[in-house]
Amino acid sequence: MASPSSTDTPPPARASIPARTLRTDRWWLPPLLTTLGLATFVVYATVRSFMRSDYWDAENHYLTPFYSPCLSDSCVAGSSHFGTPIGELPGFIPLAFLSLPFLLGFRLTCYYYRKAYYRSIWMAPPACGVGEPHERYTGETRLPLILQNVHRYFFYAALVITIINTYDAILAFGGENGFGIGLGNVVLLLNVVLLWCYTLSCHSCRHVTGGRLKHFSRNPVRYWTWTQVSRLNTRHMQFAWLTLGTLVLTDLYVWLVSSGAIADLRFIN
Ligand code: FES
Repeated sequence: MASPSSTDTPPPARASIPARTLRTDRWWLPPLLTTLGLATFVVYATVRSFMRSDYWDAENHYLTPFYSPCLSDSCVAGSSHFGTPIGELPGFIPLAFLSLPFLLGFRLTCYYYRKAYYRSIWMAPPACGVGEPHERYTGETRLPLILQNVHRYFFYAALVITIINTYDAILAFGGENGFGIGLGNVVLLLNVVLLWCYTLSCHSCRHVTGGRLKHFSRNPVRYWTWTQVSRLNTRHMQFAWLTLGTLVLTDLYVWLVSSGAIADLRFIN
């Protein structure tokens, strides 16, 4: 007997509407805001990554995440927390060239960002009930978008980089005058806490912790971990945007303090 889904009757065709959409609300606003938000971050991060100045505050030991880890002889003294195994780098190579491609890959292939830029930039489709400008849709079934599957590997690299950022934030509690706490420490700490939330709420992390388990009851530790990650995962979109904001805020703060434009607000020492 044929299953209900296997029928000779083709599904009804979509209504032929000459207009791209019949929506009268401001459906274009969310895609526009998404595009502006992502573009602002990309422009800011690109400019800052190539600036090569004001990324390390020698007095308070604040290092911006855009230059971490700094492993080259071109890095200013004190900013290389893991030594300088790499020699001088020409100006067209960012000093954090080892971490930036992985961070970029992690964000670009993130499930949330994919949704955001597929809708807002690629307009496939830009909103519910709005036709897309493309005639064919192959999705992520072939090149180049099938490469989005490497996201699971970028996740491991992002874990390492988040550990490095955390280490930088901890070292920043010991400035030139020893232990101290300033507004910069709060900013750096807030940034790494949110980076952990974003990284651990990743869908790949959810799979790593609880994927392929047939019996949760036989794996209580993995089940508990998966449950916590799943909780964070429900807020993944918020963490994606919050961390874009805190990355810019952290970098901007270090930039302003290290350039002498503002003084760090000190709470202790
Ligand atoms: Fe967004 Fe993995 S799904 S970082």
